[in-house]
Amino acid sequence: MADAPRIAFAAFATPTKGVLVVFMNGELRLGAATSKLLGRNHDLVARAASAEKFTGKLGAVLDFLAPAGLQAERLIVIGSGTQTPDFVKLGGIVMGKISPRAAEADILLDLPTGAMKPDQAADFALGLGLRAYAFERYKTKRKEDEERRGKLRLKLGVADVPASRKAWGRREALCGGVVLARDLVNEPANVLHPEEFARRAAGLKKLGVAVEVLNEAALKKLGMRMLLAVGQGSARESRVVVMRLNRGKSGAAPVAFVGKGVCFDTGGISIKPAASMEDMKGDMAGAACVVGLMRALAARKAAVNAVGVIGLVENMPDGKAQRPGDIVTSMSGQTIEIINTDAEGRLVLADLLWYVKNRFKPKFIIDLATLTGAILVALGHEHAGLFANDERLAERLLQAGTATGERVWRMPLGPDYDKLIDSKFADVKNTGGRNAGSVTAAQFLQRFVDKTPWAHLDIAGTAFGTPPSDINASWGSGWGVRLLDRLVGDHYEK
Ligand code: BES
Ligand code: MN
Ligand code: ZN
Repeated sequence: MADAPRIAFAAFATPTKGVLVVFMNGELRLGAATSKLLGRNHDLVARAASAEKFTGKLGAVLDFLAPAGLQAERLIVIGSGTQTPDFVKLGGIVMGKISPRAAEADILLDLPTGAMKPDQAADFALGLGLRAYAFERYKTKRKEDEERRGKLRLKLGVADVPASRKAWGRREALCGGVVLARDLVNEPANVLHPEEFARRAAGLKKLGVAVEVLNEAALKKLGMRMLLAVGQGSARESRVVVMRLNRGKSGAAPVAFVGKGVCFDTGGISIKPAASMEDMKGDMAGAACVVGLMRALAARKAAVNAVGVIGLVENMPDGKAQRPGDIVTSMSGQTIEIINTDAEGRLVLADLLWYVKNRFKPKFIIDLATLTGAILVALGHEHAGLFANDERLAERLLQAGTATGERVWRMPLGPDYDKLIDSKFADVKNTGGRNAGSVTAAQFLQRFVDKTPWAHLDIAGTAFGTPPSDINASWGSGWGVRLLDRLVGDHYEK
């Protein structure tokens, strides 16, 4: 991870000599505090706006060097659009406009409609932090610009300094969770194998998370034969990590999150074609999201009982690997005929779902997985697929998606799809043919959750390789951390 810029809050005051960033809306109006600070430069801005045909639309820029009468060496006017902007996005836009060569910047969080409220200022700062992220661990010749990002000091001008600082404390925790998830997704599989992933998850102990790492002997004892079958062709041992946070009502059922952590997916004996196989280092993004979420909840001291469980394996072709046609007995007792060893994620998840449901009796289970290429065909990078057996949980996820911009789209489940995975030789088979590939994968999982309220998020299209956005310039997106943090915050804290 690159060094993050330092973010501080201060009352609106005379800016220092670095960059000064202010906002102008669609009607070309400035905020009151901004007007006062700009003084005679207000005229200059108005004339420049008309000369440039600046419309004030979200993200439009007017850039002035060495403005007279101001200490600042540079004044940047940013369009804030016509309506109330998305503050996270606005923060990301601003970060994208500040040159990495700048040492310090004053940003006046002052819109024509008034100074940003503490929560809005914190969202804005979250956008700054998310956009500043870059994964540069393996660049031995770091560009000078990249070096300097970490030295950038950002001073955010706000009306209520203590309240803004407090709100940022919570968002900073969230930012740290997203950044951790991105780091894990971006790491290559020769570094981030199951054992190393488990070691990094165990780092959450520092934040008060109880962490158990289950090795292969422990998994064998528990009967997670299906998960172990996926990893049996790998030189690396499989691991399951259980993370628990207990800040909710004492004794109350926890909320549970389960993540697919296939550290590399070659497809196994049903091997994948070479093109883009390198992307399969990101096949652990579901697990990365669960770890990032637990980090965020722990760091912001969320008043919730939460469990995060991740299944860490590597899917490799080998003399010891499982074969198409093999029949495996899952932890639940159901037998599974392996048709395609590349449909491995559902095998890992199904043992985990069964385990979590029985051990924790949670309020709900949400699993996240880069499960099917078919979800990319259906929804592209814009939505994750949402499958659920519970209307209220589905509705809450849809709402959290709209609120955070991490959007989900409801997909169907039903007995007619379920028939597609009945097996000739066993209770169920692990693929259902070409049609409705994302749905049959979800149907497979549903056979292991019984009546527990459950939602499955297929994040194969949103977790990595998404087009660069205002708040993410990196390959791994950390998708889902903000969504689920919001879900917990809105409905499950005491
Ligand atoms: N990890 C892949 C799914 C995937 C593909 C994620 C592309 C991200 C980008 C998963 O394990 C897989 O291989 N699924 C197969 C299932 C098929 C064999 C039924 C797929 O989608 O082709
Ligand atoms: Mn696969
Ligand atoms: Zn996979």
